[in-house]
Amino acid sequence: MAKARGKLRQDWYYRLAKEQGYRSRAAFNLLQLDRRFSFLPTARAVLDLGAAPGGWLQVAVRTATAGAFVVGVDLARIRPIRGAISLKEDIAATSRCSAAVRKLMDSKGVAAFDVVLHDGVGKKNRRKRDGAQKATTRHRQSALVIDAVRLATTFLAPKGTFITKFTGSKDLNAIIFCLKQLFEKVQPYKPIASRIASAEIYFVCLEYKAPAKIQPELFDLNYLFTVSLENKPRDEVETQLRGLCMHESMSYFKRCPASEFVWSEADIRLELVSFFVAISFDDPASLPIKNHELTTTEVVE
Ligand SMILES: C[S@@+](CC[C@H](N)C(=O)[O-])C[C@H]1O[C@@H](n2cnc3c(N)ncnc32)[C@H](O)[C@@H]1O
Repeated sequence: MAKARGKLRQDWYYRLAKEQGYRSRAAFNLLQLDRRFSFLPTARAVLDLGAAPGGWLQVAVRTATAGAFVVGVDLARIRPIRGAISLKEDIAATSRCSAAVRKLMDSKGVAAFDVVLHDGVGKKNRRKRDGAQKATTRHRQSALVIDAVRLATTFLAPKGTFITKFTGSKDLNAIIFCLKQLFEKVQPYKPIASRIASAEIYFVCLEYKAPAKIQPELFDLNYLFTVSLENKPRDEVETQLRGLCMHESMSYFKRCPASEFVWSEADIRLELVSFFVAISFDDPASLPIKNHELTTTEVVE
């Protein structure tokens, strides 16, 4: 199975990333998020938290305003990208990290970021945290999201956009509660490029409220967990999430994109056939197959 999983990694987006010079297939997640919500084309300053190997940075440089100030932060060193600046910092060490980002902003005369991105996964962070932010294994991923939110609120311009990845479900209400205090609109979204088997979803947080003061508890996961249980969000976010799950379980999860099917190796294809009930041409990656001369109407049907 490990071998099969390894092979599945070589999927269509993986190959497309190689072809188009992106360092990660994750680049297509950001491209699709931006195609849907269009936050990059007007951005003059973009901060990417958890940016290595740099796929999202490449998308930001290519899509944001010409000459935009693009900064990537990661525990790992990021190979240089023309048009982007990288910092090797831990986003969980928020004071140190914000001091390093601030220094860079001051040196370029930048007052705020229009967009803050976060695509981090917590596995690699083995450093100790302090106080209420001390992460248990269970909360590590959510704690990293909260660290990213905290940094975002330090640097975002009013009405700015914050994108964060979330995996798992345990702290979902706590995270939504926190985001909703800070942004006018919080929308969950799963781009088609996001692996079918992955539980990851993205939260697109639009129109930063830029409050004059933020209660420190808002960045304390234990507090958020308790309060969010009392104030379960019975609003449009929850409805959308339910819709998203329906979408995934009822259709997307059961329909295999033609791109994934056609370009998989034979034994993987066999696995896909046993998992999916239909093959779809809906995603952009499958369009060349749909439009291919060998794909007759009969084949499509
Ligand atoms: C999924 S990768 C990001 C991929 C990136 N968006 C791209 O397109 O290339 C997640 C990154 O988060 C980074 N990360 C995890 N914890 C971090 C932390 N505490 N501080 C900084 N970076 C962190 C990891 O080192 C990893 O490079």
